[in-house]
Amino acid sequence: MRAPLRSRIGFAVLLATAAAMLGPAPAIAAALGGPGYFPNVPLTTQDGRVVHFYDDLLKDKAVVINLIYTHCSGSCPLETAKLSQVQRLLGDRVGKDIFFYSISIDPAHDTPKVLKAYAAKFQVQPGWLFLTGKKEDIKLISKQLGLSSLTDASSPDGHLPALLIGKEATGEWMRNSAVDNPRFLVTTILHFFDGYQSTKPLQSYADMAPLHNVGKGEYLFKTDCTACHTIGKGDRVGPDLLNVTSLRDRTWLARYVAAPDRVLAAGDPIARKLFARYKSVRMPNLGLSTEEVDAILPYMEQQSRAVTNSAQKGSLSTQ
Ligand code: HEC
Repeated sequence: MRAPLRSRIGFAVLLATAAAMLGPAPAIAAALGGPGYFPNVPLTTQDGRVVHFYDDLLKDKAVVINLIYTHCSGSCPLETAKLSQVQRLLGDRVGKDIFFYSISIDPAHDTPKVLKAYAAKFQVQPGWLFLTGKKEDIKLISKQLGLSSLTDASSPDGHLPALLIGKEATGEWMRNSAVDNPRFLVTTILHFFDGYQSTKPLQSYADMAPLHNVGKGEYLFKTDCTACHTIGKGDRVGPDLLNVTSLRDRTWLARYVAAPDRVLAAGDPIARKLFARYKSVRMPNLGLSTEEVDAILPYMEQQSRAVTNSAQKGSLSTQ
């Protein structure tokens, strides 16, 4: 499970221009665009507004599109969490000259109301629409976007976390992994939309903190967990994980982090309680191996200790 997801990371193909070089795989690219190519079907936003796919969402716009479904127990919540970080990093450009669209592949379940609650959970800002519509229309859209193999919500394993970045006017489209590092995605998006010369780096290397040795647990936690969790900085999309390693039994924790969906499905009372509290988003099954879970838990424990120690020091110095 893990290996295929990881190998997708960093998968970025400049579809339109590289089609000729790359052979048959991105054949869809060459055809992306042109009169009548994108269906002008109606979709409904999370606010209940009806919009037309081509006229209102694509025409002359720079767009970032992914397919989601809100009850997904796989990678979709992580995609949305990372995209929400990307939106924050892009600032007010989203909604001004860059537009985000998350289209539900399970429109029967994902009504505008469900999508609105989901978007709120991820603190989605204006400029990012969550869309639902008729199943056949969404199938057609995903086919034309070259994402049709990803449209079956009943077989989530077929759902690649792909993020499509494109400009309808020029017919240029690029596919990225939607679960990549948000800073990398921001750089990619800005390079793609602003041209490869004009972007200023987001941050000067001179301002960056010195690199330290990042252990495996820290690396995994920062890549897969911080989009939704903090340790000691309060709830985000999911609960603050401060001291969770002492609060919960170790075996339970390892099982839960590895496969929260299965623990919940088995009727585990803690998982059910958490699920009831954090309603519209689920802790995703990230396909972590036992070895990876064994690296993450000690990191969480060590971070909790560091946070508690510095809080104690703080309260001593103010006494
Ligand atoms: C997309 C958001 C998201 C991501 C990514 C995510 N989680 Fe969660 N996590 C949640 C939510 C939401 C809950 C609350 C339970 C629920 O609703 O399913 C949760 C619950 C938990 C809990 C249970 C807390 C408790 O009180 O027992 C632990 C532990 C946890 N997550 C660890 C992790 C770790 C470790 C990672 C990274 C490998 C991770 N999570 C990635 C959203 C996320």
